[in-house]
Amino acid sequence: MKKLLLFGLLVILSLPVLRADEGMWLPVIISQRIKDMQKNGFRLTAEDVYSVNKACLKDAIVHFGGGCTGELISGDGLLITNHHCGYGQIQSHSSLENDYLTHGFWAMNRGEELPNRGLVVRFLVRMDDVTGAVLKGVTDGMDEKEREQIVRSNQEAVVAKAIEGTHYQARVESLFYGNQYFLFVFEAYTDVRLVGAPPSAIGKFGGDTDNWMWPRHTGDFAIFRVYAGPDNKPAPYDPSNVPFKPKKFFTISLKGVKENDFTMVYGYPGRTQQYVHSEAVRYIQESNPHKIRLRTLRLDIMNAEMAKSPSVRIQYASKNASVANSWKKWQGETKGLIRLQTVEQKRAFEESFTLWAAGKPQYALLVAQLQELYDELEPYANAADYHTEALVCVEIIRAAGALSQLLAREERANSDPERVRTLVSEQLELFFKDYYRPIDQSSFVVLMREYLMNVPSRFQAPFIAGQITKYGFSIEMWAEELFSTSLVTSKERTMESLRSDNFIEVLRRDPALQLYTEYINQYNQVVLPKVTEINNAITLLYRNYMKGQMEFQKNKVFYPDANSTLRVAYGKVKGYKPMDAVYYEPLSTLDGIMEKDNPNIDDYDVPQKLRELFQNRDFGRWAVNGTVPVCFIATNHTSGGNSGSPILNANGELLGLNFDRVWEGTMSDLAFDPVVCRNISVDIRYVLFIIDKFAGAGYLLDEMVFAK
Ligand code: ARG
Ligand code: GLU
Repeated sequence: MKKLLLFGLLVILSLPVLRADEGMWLPVIISQRIKDMQKNGFRLTAEDVYSVNKACLKDAIVHFGGGCTGELISGDGLLITNHHCGYGQIQSHSSLENDYLTHGFWAMNRGEELPNRGLVVRFLVRMDDVTGAVLKGVTDGMDEKEREQIVRSNQEAVVAKAIEGTHYQARVESLFYGNQYFLFVFEAYTDVRLVGAPPSAIGKFGGDTDNWMWPRHTGDFAIFRVYAGPDNKPAPYDPSNVPFKPKKFFTISLKGVKENDFTMVYGYPGRTQQYVHSEAVRYIQESNPHKIRLRTLRLDIMNAEMAKSPSVRIQYASKNASVANSWKKWQGETKGLIRLQTVEQKRAFEESFTLWAAGKPQYALLVAQLQELYDELEPYANAADYHTEALVCVEIIRAAGALSQLLAREERANSDPERVRTLVSEQLELFFKDYYRPIDQSSFVVLMREYLMNVPSRFQAPFIAGQITKYGFSIEMWAEELFSTSLVTSKERTMESLRSDNFIEVLRRDPALQLYTEYINQYNQVVLPKVTEINNAITLLYRNYMKGQMEFQKNKVFYPDANSTLRVAYGKVKGYKPMDAVYYEPLSTLDGIMEKDNPNIDDYDVPQKLRELFQNRDFGRWAVNGTVPVCFIATNHTSGGNSGSPILNANGELLGLNFDRVWEGTMSDLAFDPVVCRNISVDIRYVLFIIDKFAGAGYLLDEMVFAK
């Protein structure tokens, strides 16, 4: 009896119910959540959030560069996103003479704004549930191959119809592992110019020390402007283009927030996995430490060289930030998963699910089948991790890969050698701009050693073993030979050889290309097909497992995993308790910046001008209680990709920009814990203070609209 009771209790405890604040909702069906949002303080309607008939909040939001979110803040195309989202652009305009990363950049008129090749912002025109159209002709017991074909051709038809006669782009995305399909139609603008960015000592204040952490004091913003052709439609960069007139831009609230205020984040979260099997979570938890170690090795090398040379620091700033970002997140994620006991919770859930599923043929075996597939996947997944985190992180191996792909493509197209010459030279030009051989050569040595020690020999490329033997088991000697002879390590050698008639031959024989080819052939034959095959089988099972979870937990409201589609998250401003005896308040201020100030620590070296503004209490109209608000945290469920997303108040006015999550909550891509999961935003008043008082670019405020 006791046992039964205990078991019953366990079942109840282990059912993951949707907790307040958890969820990333599709705007088009926000009507299903609007009552709850309003109960929590929201004062607008579902139509205000998303509509195809009238201008609404969604029309002010863009998918920025594919990986971030941005939003319009003026009728003249002014756009704001995070500093770390515009980092690549800011860096690309930087040199030792004009070091915008260090000193910031401010266009003092529209003529000074800087164009950015390759940058695209996409406005969502509409989204529609197209499940019916995509699954048309699909029947229950149908063979999977056949099903896939029907689904694919239906999707193509839906997309073709959606963009017919327009300049739009469209995609169909599967939600809930193929249980639903939605169409997304976009309008893409490519003339997007850099208007302003604070120095990194503001935009990246706290650097990787504070990254993924609260309390935070980062002015993580950068300003761009979207340009259009004379008809307001997308047009490639042209000096004569005009500022884009958006259907909607955000009104800015200067009132700020206090604890328990309603907030909502509207943006493009990238990827979450809330409904996966316990084994998937266990794998992430246990493989993170390996990936972290590989990145520590690279970071140590990079950091040492960057400290020695200002030009190397500029060259590697962006690479370093992106390596360090996941490196730190994974540490928090693993800790969080262990603390939350997500694996154990999922196992308990799987037990009760399996009990329920007994006698239901489509569900009964799912948990066990997934377990088997994950067991089979593990060694391959591990080798795949060493692929992405070790050898292809060597820059010349990656560059050699890009080159061989280019050569192969142009050969297939029977291209004229002159064209190939130009393409190769452009590609390498870009590569060499930010290449520093000593970092890469040292990385090669440590990463190759890790590869040899940790990847089972049946997965390793025999060519590599051959090289190791050839160089008397010294990776250093091999590296020295490889790096001093390959063209890809030297701009001079490359440009020289590009002048010869048989340059394609010469490139093909290059030792870096040879190594890449031998390595990748082995990987593509022995590891990749298995990873793909097993993952496909897993994804297939998830279609039913997802459906089963929805039937099993009839009263739970499910939200689809993030997949880089536009979502609404809502929650409240709230502090939290990170550990025993400590409570974190939800708002940070300029005082905190000055508390951290330390000229001897790079991450905390406050710009002199900001020090002076603080000392003189020269805050202008931005003073609040004798200081300036800087950042705040709230319970919105966000993920990577939500960077730059508008965080809005109950009236849909802009309070700030989302840019991070707190350390204790970084496992929320897999398991959301309302007790500690918080998103971090920069307060728009700090942004305006910096633009106005620090940068002297207050003219930009004239085109913004402030709530009364
Ligand atoms: N953690 C934030 C995000 O995931 C900010 C990253 C950029 N900052 C940095 N110090 N690397 O994108
Ligand atoms: N900084 C992240 C990004 O670039 C957002 C933070 C998160 O992952 O929540 O999207």
